[in-house]
Amino acid sequence: MAFSGIDAVIFGVSDMREAQRFLDDWGTHKVVVRDDKLVYETRDAGQIIVYDQSNPELPPGIEPGNTVREVIWGAADKETIAATLDRCRSAGIEPRIGDDGLPRVTDPNGLSLAFQVTQREVMTVPATPVNGPGAPRRIDQRSPVHDRADPIKIGHIVLFANDFAAMRGFYTDVMGFVVSDEYPGHGVFLRCKALGEHHNLFILNRPGKPGINHVAFTVADVHEVIGGGIAMSKKGWKTEIGPGRHPISSAYFWYFHNPLGPPLEYYADEDFCTEAWKPQSFERKPELFAEWAIAGGIDGTTRRQVVAADNSGRGHA
Ligand SMILES: [Fe+2]
Repeated sequence: MAFSGIDAVIFGVSDMREAQRFLDDWGTHKVVVRDDKLVYETRDAGQIIVYDQSNPELPPGIEPGNTVREVIWGAADKETIAATLDRCRSAGIEPRIGDDGLPRVTDPNGLSLAFQVTQREVMTVPATPVNGPGAPRRIDQRSPVHDRADPIKIGHIVLFANDFAAMRGFYTDVMGFVVSDEYPGHGVFLRCKALGEHHNLFILNRPGKPGINHVAFTVADVHEVIGGGIAMSKKGWKTEIGPGRHPISSAYFWYFHNPLGPPLEYYADEDFCTEAWKPQSFERKPELFAEWAIAGGIDGTTRRQVVAADNSGRGHA
C-alpha cells in the first residue's frame, strides 16, 4: 500500500491562451479547452489542469506569478489514503474534503495536496534497444527520429522547501515516500515506494523562498527527449537548459520555459529502484546536476547550439 505517483498537477496562470498553445506543442492530449479551464493528459491519463490565476477556488500559490497550485497524488487503494490521513492527523495536519470529494492537506511548504485512488493507467513502453559492440540488441531495426514528444506520464515534481527538515519529515514519515539519494541538509530525492523509478519528488532547501523548481514528463527514451526538444525549439519555445544528462538518476533531460510557470522537463532512462537500491549521500556541486548539458538548447532549424540568453544557473541540484 503506497502512493503510485502524480495523478495531476493544477496550475494557476495569467494567460490561458498561451498556456493552451504551449500544451498543444508539448505533446499532451487535449481533454477540456474552455476560456476558464484547460485539461491535458499524458498517455497514462495523468492530467495537467490549468485555471486562470484569479480563480477564487484555486488553492493559494506558494510563490507569486504563474505556478503550481496543487498536486494530486495517486494511491494504489483507499486504505493507503485512509492511513495517510491518519498520519496527517497524528502530525497535527487536519485534512479537509474539497467540493470534488477528494481529501486534501497542506504540506509544510504551504502547497495543497489532494489524494485519490489513481486514475492513471499503467503504461508499458519499450525504449529503443541499444546496440553494444558484439552485443546487438536492436537487430534489423532502425533507431527512431521523433518529430515531437508524446509524454507518457508526469514523472516527478521538484519543490523548493522553506523548511527543508519539515518537508523531508512530512514526505517520508507522513506520505511514506522512500529516500533514493540525498544531499544531506540540502536536497532529497524521494520515490513513492521501494519499487519504482528513482524519484517522484525532489525537495531542495531554499529557506525563505518556497516554490516550484520544475515539473517533469517521462518520455520513452533519449531519442524522444531530443526529438521532442527540437520540436519545441522549432515552435519557438525557449530552453531553460538541455539537452543534458543527470548523473544522479542517470536520466537524459531537456527543460523549457513556458507560460505555466516553472520549467517543464522531458526526461528518459532514469534509474529504476527496488528494495536493494542503495541510497547515496552527495555533496552539492554543479557537476552532480548535469554530467553535461547544453545551456541554450539546440536550434530547431540548424540543430546547432543556441547561445544561451538565459544561463542563470537557476538552482536545480
Ligand atoms: Fe527533473
